[in-house]
Amino acid sequence: MKHFEYRNGALLCDGAAATDLAEEYGTPLYVYSESALRGQVRKLRTAFRELDLLICYAVKANFNLAVCDVFRDEGCGFDIVSGGELFRVKKIGGDTRKVVFAGVGKTKAEINEALDADILMFNIESESELRRIDQVAREKGKVAPVALRLNPDISVNTHKYMATGSRETKFGVDLATATRFLGIIDELRNVRLTGLHVHVGSQIETPEPYASTLDRVAAFLETCRDAEMEVEWLDVGGGFGIDYRADQAAAPDDFARAIVPRVKKTGCRAVLEPGRFLVGNSAILLTRVQYVKQQGDKTMVICDAGMNDLIRPALYDGYHQIWPAAADGPMPGDQQALNADGENRIRVDVVGPICETGDIFASDRVLPPVEEGDLLAIFSAGAYSFSMSSNYNSRPRACEVMITDGAPRMIRERETYEDLIVNEIT
Ligand code: LLP
Repeated sequence: MKHFEYRNGALLCDGAAATDLAEEYGTPLYVYSESALRGQVRKLRTAFRELDLLICYAVKANFNLAVCDVFRDEGCGFDIVSGGELFRVKKIGGDTRKVVFAGVGKTKAEINEALDADILMFNIESESELRRIDQVAREKGKVAPVALRLNPDISVNTHKYMATGSRETKFGVDLATATRFLGIIDELRNVRLTGLHVHVGSQIETPEPYASTLDRVAAFLETCRDAEMEVEWLDVGGGFGIDYRADQAAAPDDFARAIVPRVKKTGCRAVLEPGRFLVGNSAILLTRVQYVKQQGDKTMVICDAGMNDLIRPALYDGYHQIWPAAADGPMPGDQQALNADGENRIRVDVVGPICETGDIFASDRVLPPVEEGDLLAIFSAGAYSFSMSSNYNSRPRACEVMITDGAPRMIRERETYEDLIVNEIT
């Protein structure tokens, strides 16, 4: 089922008209489809049905409580990287025994909170961290379950800021170091090895990096077993790419074909940590055109959303389809392939109001003619969009709504000017 589609010249979000939503809640406005969120979880479950699988939603992709609550309701656990994310999981009554905690900089306070919450495992990124967790656990009279995060030295074809599996990055430990860690874990009294973890990047569009990563993990698993260390969990990480453009990423079944047999062979239970796959294409950002300005040879379409609302194009050259909410649909599958010479088309830069040259959503983009006051939809805006938004230029953050069975419900109020200064002291 299509959750965002054009019918009779109007964009519908699970049946709700985008123009009505913008009218009622104002812009910029994030619109989520609850059934899209649920559908993505089910797609993964189906593709990986042969595994004993725990899906831990990567909260960083979209931390909204209502979004997390949908995943809790679908039986997911959570992949967290901070005490703040753990706080959110607890707020929605998530099962903290289904929480995995990654990240290279866990503080003592965060380790304490996670031990109190009896999380499933800490993903270990360095020796100092391993020793710190042991120490904090000892002070509490607990034994911390840990998974070694391996850095398999795999390069991934994605933006360089989203590649995490090569040796040059700060993530994980190389296999020689990990072997040494086995001895340390054996000595330490208050940590116990329960898993191995890998996460080699984000927006991975083909299955191959998973296959080569897991082959290296399987070899290391033998090292663990030779050392008589039992490993219950294999955490394969997240990273499954999505279609920002048509047919850009492999399907869940393709990823599963690379992952399932390899994990099955190990006899381990599996964790997946998808973020983008679950939320990316489950939301759009609606923005109102404020001005259309001619600048030299260019036409600038200036919107009321900016890089403070959605920083992906500015930070990663991220591509998002953009199309008017009132247009003769359907939206072309691959907007990039459009030719400006085509019928009734213009070529524009879509930009925000922020005082930064990089505040550009799209350069040289082909659109139907756009006028001041028109509503534009920025697609694939569920992941790393609101969660990376800020108050830069003292702009209140956007409103978020979720559509359930065709009915909208606000899941985050638009911030006010007062919200901007709430923690400031003069
Ligand atoms: N697990 C770990 C340890 C991670 O670091 C991440 C993402 C995930 C899981 C989830 O990855 P996903 O399934 O969403 O690809 N801000 C960037 C993406 C950064 C990803 C950070 N780590 C963007 O906007 O594309």
